[in-house]
Amino acid sequence: MENAIKLNIDYTGIGDHELMTYSEKINKIEKELSKNAEEHKDFVGWLNWPKEYDKKEYDKIKKIAEKVKRDSNVLVVIGIGGSYLGARAVIDALNRESSVEIVYVGNNLSANYINKIIDYVSDKEISLNVISKSGKTTEPAIAFRIFRNLMENKYGVDEARKRIYVTTTKQKGALYKIALQEKYARISIPEDIGGRYSVLTAVGLLPMAVANVDIDKIMEGANNARKAYANESIEENDCYKYAIVRNILYEREKSIEILGTYEPCLQYFSEWWKQLYGESEGKNYGGIFPAAVTYTTDLHSLGQYVQEGKRNIFETIINVKNSDTDIVINYDDENLDDLNYIAGRTVSYVNQKAIQATIDAHVDGGVPNILIEMDYLDEYSIGNLIYFFEKACAISGNILGINPFDQPGVEKYKENMFTLLGKYD
Ligand code: PA5
Repeated sequence: MENAIKLNIDYTGIGDHELMTYSEKINKIEKELSKNAEEHKDFVGWLNWPKEYDKKEYDKIKKIAEKVKRDSNVLVVIGIGGSYLGARAVIDALNRESSVEIVYVGNNLSANYINKIIDYVSDKEISLNVISKSGKTTEPAIAFRIFRNLMENKYGVDEARKRIYVTTTKQKGALYKIALQEKYARISIPEDIGGRYSVLTAVGLLPMAVANVDIDKIMEGANNARKAYANESIEENDCYKYAIVRNILYEREKSIEILGTYEPCLQYFSEWWKQLYGESEGKNYGGIFPAAVTYTTDLHSLGQYVQEGKRNIFETIINVKNSDTDIVINYDDENLDDLNYIAGRTVSYVNQKAIQATIDAHVDGGVPNILIEMDYLDEYSIGNLIYFFEKACAISGNILGINPFDQPGVEKYKENMFTLLGKYD
């Protein structure tokens, strides 16, 4: 099948000849990534995952999803960062009808937020999926303790046990130990896939399957992308192009990348993207700062800054060309709002014109734009897009000269917090 997304760098002012100067570097990075993936080293397991994923585990995920749909109307997903953003990104973007609602906790320490979720789920039939690769992250650990207690009080220990699903690494960590002792059903996160690259593993797939996302199609889109972005020719490989272009722009003092979407349902996709790039590249006191906007909403907020603020910004715009549903703008006899000139047009037609108008305005104003175009927002295209961004991020981080798979900076606040909480007293 065809690639579902198309990259357009015409609005960046960067030509193919400039991209080609990166040939040798890219070639070396690709070889290194492939070698490490084959040897299951350096957290590159995601590279071949859409082809090599564990089929037995995959069937287990589908079976668990069916059971959750049979016995629950709400699934509480506990996880933070890479352990929930990918699932939420896809579930929100596709918004499939499901008898089970997904709610998210363990991604903050707000008592108000947690209490609201407790109130909301208490009188519903609940299943719980706790997701943590390390099995020791504080936010999800606290939420798990609270919700486990809630479920044991509601159902009794034995029935609660049948409704709790643990996603963690094999044979390691506190969560693994709890799951083993309490005999919770377990699905695993491969050792060589880091949190923010794990959306296509059990981490993302179980919540997605419960939300009636067609995970076969997600994997198909990702696998097709895997093949397409293994093409060694820079001219034919959009993934390489995106990675190179953002690094050239960074060298030209464009240190902020804004991901712009024109569909509010992509808000969590942007959150996922921000984490992927921010945590991967923000190292050694450098790296492109990833920000996100939802247009046209934010044209009436950050739009002014993008148009006329400091010229250290470039944008990456995702344009979904066709809307699933549409609305025709009606004719009005009085025309007091002066809108009859677009009567008969659809809202998505106007949205497309807004996209072009904004690109032209921002590019004129000195903000280079990278365009990512897709015909439809569906499982196949989202799978494609996820893999595109993952691989581009790994390539881009390597061009930048940092390790895109670690996150040493995240530990700093934790140590301070543990000290303040008296963990070491
Ligand atoms: O990308 C990462 O590794 C992180 O963002 C983690 O996903 C996040 O910190 C949660 O970690 P864990 O799954 O170990 O609870």
